[in-house]
Amino acid sequence: MKYSVYVEKYVPSLEGKLYLVTGANSGLGYSACKTFLSKGAAVIMACRNLTKADKAKAKLLEMFPNGKIDIVHFDQADKASIDSLPSKLEKYEHIDALILNAGIFHPGKNLFTKDGYSLTVGTNFIGLYFTVEALRNQIKEGKFKRLVLVSSLVSHFGRSRHYEKYFKKYHRSSFKQYAVSKRMILEYGLYLSSDLYGQTEVTLCHPGLASTNIVGGEATTFSKRFQHAGKRFMHRFGNSADKSSLCLVQAAVKSPANLGYFYPKHFFHIRGIPKEKRLHLSEKKYARLLKSLSHL
Ligand SMILES: NC(=O)c1ccc[n+]([C@@H]2O[C@H](COP(=O)([O-])OP(=O)(O)OC[C@H]3O[C@@H](n4cnc5c(N)ncnc54)[C@H](OP(=O)(O)O)[C@@H]3O)[C@@H](O)[C@H]2O)c1
Repeated sequence: MKYSVYVEKYVPSLEGKLYLVTGANSGLGYSACKTFLSKGAAVIMACRNLTKADKAKAKLLEMFPNGKIDIVHFDQADKASIDSLPSKLEKYEHIDALILNAGIFHPGKNLFTKDGYSLTVGTNFIGLYFTVEALRNQIKEGKFKRLVLVSSLVSHFGRSRHYEKYFKKYHRSSFKQYAVSKRMILEYGLYLSSDLYGQTEVTLCHPGLASTNIVGGEATTFSKRFQHAGKRFMHRFGNSADKSSLCLVQAAVKSPANLGYFYPKHFFHIRGIPKEKRLHLSEKKYARLLKSLSHL
């Protein structure tokens, strides 16, 4: 089914709703904003690069001249930026969903965040964890109806007994670092759904394989040739960014959906329209996760 047909048929009117999307200037975050705006919602784009964010906003406004779009500066690889987010959100009384989408894949070796965490795990998971922690008071006050966490199909390869060993040290496989970051997001999302029960809903998603800028991010060490080949592969076998972003959109709007996990339906869950299932985690895995989190 085409993206436009799906949106028409399966995404309800979102008039009066407000969605906050991190990493909204490109790829899935941008596409999700496009769908929210097309259904009448307002969006807040939380981006680390304001020039890129302004350009993305201008493109969206060309499509939706009456669209309500705000931009806030947000760098998920910088604790100081994360800690300043709650004050930037004070003026919004209620946000229907916070979509924690920002992420990177395969940056160069031995790169670290400003706070000394290995760049992939530090950005994708630790930054996300610090963001939720920074927003705890606002979550408790009921500001967010829902949190959406974006994991990945490769989270299967990210299981570890000691996640903390990936926090500060470079691990020789950057794929493993990415998989660990996405596995931690999945487990943390499941933990949050019970930890924040009664304060906000929590949903999870993975977008399958989507044709985006993920293999060509700012810190990538992939050669131009590899980036080109990667993009062609994603384009050939995966979904368009618009279609994959429907998993994020459904995770944000479908109701009731506490603990819902949204992912593409077809071809080994790599592409297609969203499908939903329920997930749960064993007590043993919760305990292991919490032990790793105690290192942060
Ligand atoms: N594409 C896929 O096949 C796929 C599959 C599974 C999961 N995902 C996940 O989907 C999410 C979106 O990725 P995408 O495919 O849409 O890639 P993308 O086009 O590269 O978009 C990633 C977004 O995250 C932003 N970002 C990166 N680091 C950030 C930071 N430190 N602070 C704030 N924003 C930051 C990027 O901003 P800049 O433009 O400034 O870099 C960009 O807006 C990621 O979490 C990714 O892991 C993607």
